[in-house]
Amino acid sequence: MKILYAASEALPFASSGGLADVVGSLPQAVKEVLGRDGDVRVVIPMYSQIRGKFAEQLELVTEINVRLSWRNQYCGIWKTERSGVTVYFIDNLYYFDRGTLYGCHDDGERFAFFSKCVLELMSAVHFYPDILHANDWQTALTVIYLKRKYAHLEEYRSTRALFTIHNIDYQGQFDFGILSDVFELPEWDRSVVEYNGCINLLKGAIVCADMVNTVSQTYAREILTEYFSSGLHHILRQADAEGKLTGIVNGIDVDYYNPENDPDIAANYSYADPSPKALDKEDLENICGFAHAPDTPIIAMVSRLASHKGFDLVRRVLEEIVANDNIRFVLLGTGETALEDYFRDLAARYPDRVAIRLEYNKALSKKFYAGADLFLMPSKSEPCGLSQMIASRYGTVPIVRECGGLADTIRPYNEYDGTGNGFTFTNYNAHDMMSVIRYACSMFADHSKWDNLVKVVMNVDFSWNVSAKRYIDIYARLK
Ligand code: GLC
Repeated sequence: MKILYAASEALPFASSGGLADVVGSLPQAVKEVLGRDGDVRVVIPMYSQIRGKFAEQLELVTEINVRLSWRNQYCGIWKTERSGVTVYFIDNLYYFDRGTLYGCHDDGERFAFFSKCVLELMSAVHFYPDILHANDWQTALTVIYLKRKYAHLEEYRSTRALFTIHNIDYQGQFDFGILSDVFELPEWDRSVVEYNGCINLLKGAIVCADMVNTVSQTYAREILTEYFSSGLHHILRQADAEGKLTGIVNGIDVDYYNPENDPDIAANYSYADPSPKALDKEDLENICGFAHAPDTPIIAMVSRLASHKGFDLVRRVLEEIVANDNIRFVLLGTGETALEDYFRDLAARYPDRVAIRLEYNKALSKKFYAGADLFLMPSKSEPCGLSQMIASRYGTVPIVRECGGLADTIRPYNEYDGTGNGFTFTNYNAHDMMSVIRYACSMFADHSKWDNLVKVVMNVDFSWNVSAKRYIDIYARLK
C-alpha cells in the first residue's frame, strides 16, 4: 500500500501545534504495522527553519517548475528518511522563507502553491499513492486539485483521498476574487468551495474527499452540531449521511515523550519507580522562581493561548484559587494578547504562586509536563488534545472538561474503587472547574491514593498502536 501524507507541519522539522505531532508520528506507526507492504511518505513545505537546522540530512531529489494560475514557480524537492518513512520538502524561498509558518498576508497563495506542488511531486518522483492523506485547510487544496484537476489523468485515477480535520475552527476562508487568480479554480468549480458567501477550502475538501475523519470519535459527533461546527454542520451532516465521516483518536509518540530517557528533563523516571519525578518538580520550581515546597501541588497548562482552550473559565476563577488555596499555577504558551496580558498581570501580583513563560518551546514544555502534579485542560472544544496524554505519560494527572478527545481519553477518577485516570467536569462552567481543581488537590494531599493514581495515569497506553490500525482499515477500504 502506498500512502502520501500532505501537511503544513511535522515534527521534528516544523511545529506550531498538535498537527506536527500527528504528522511526525502517525506515518511511522503505519509503516511499522504495514512493514514491507507499506510505502509511506510525507510531504511538507521547506520552511527556512528546516533549511538551517536539518541541512546535512537533506538530499535534493529534483527541481521542477510548478504553475499556479499565471505563475510559474521554482519547486525544489528535497528528501530525508525517518524510521522507514520518506519525508519530502517543497522548496521555494519566495513562499517559505518567512521566519514563520503561518500568519502571512498571502497564506492562501502559499498553501495553494504547496498543494499544487504535492500533485506535481507525484509525477516528478513517480510516486502515485493509493491514498493521499491530507490534513487541515492548508492541504485541503491537494484533495480538491486531485479530484477536480488531476483525476482524469491515468496515473492519478486510482488515488483515493482521506481528509483529516484537526480543528474545525480553521477553515481557510477567502474572497471569491482570488478563485481563479490564486487558487486556479475555474468558475464552474465555484460551487465546490463556496460556503456562506466566500471560498471555504475545508468545505471543498470535505465535499471532494473519499473519506473524512476527525481526531476523536466524540468530536466527530460534536461537529455535527451547530455549537461545535463553526458553521459547517450542514456539510458535515451530509458527509455523515453518505457514510464518509468518522473519528479516530490520536496517539502520541511514546518514544519521544518518555520520562525514562527524555534528555530534556532534569531527572528520568519510570512507571516502576516514579519517585525521581520529585526532582523534576524541584527543577520546575527553580525555573519558576518558587521556593521548594513538595506539599504544594503545581497545576500546569501548556497551551496555545486561544479562548477555545478554556481560558474564559481560567480567567474567571484562577485568582480566587491561587489567592486562597495551597496551590501553584504555571503556564507555558503564546497567543491572544488579552490572555498574555492577563497572565502577566497575575504572575506579577502573585510571584510566589503563579509563573508564566509566554513562548512556544518544546524542550521547556517537557519540564512542565514532568515537573507539575496536575495538568489543566478545560477546553470549550477539543478535537483530540495531545497534552492530556503527554502529561499522563509523565505522571502528571489531567483535569479536563469532558469534550471531544478529552472525553475519549480521560475517565473520571473514582476514589472509592480507584478507577479512572484523571479529573473531569461536564459543563463549561468556571465554578465546576474550580470545585474539580479543589477536589484534585484534596486527593493530592492523600499520599497513598495519589501515588497510586500517578501510576495508573502513567500506565495508560496512549501509543498509536490501536489508531494506526484503524487508519490502515480506512486506507484498505478506500483502495
Ligand atoms: C489540533 C487540535 C487538537 C488535536 C491536534 C492534533 O491542534 O486542536 O485537539 O489534538 O490538532 O490532531
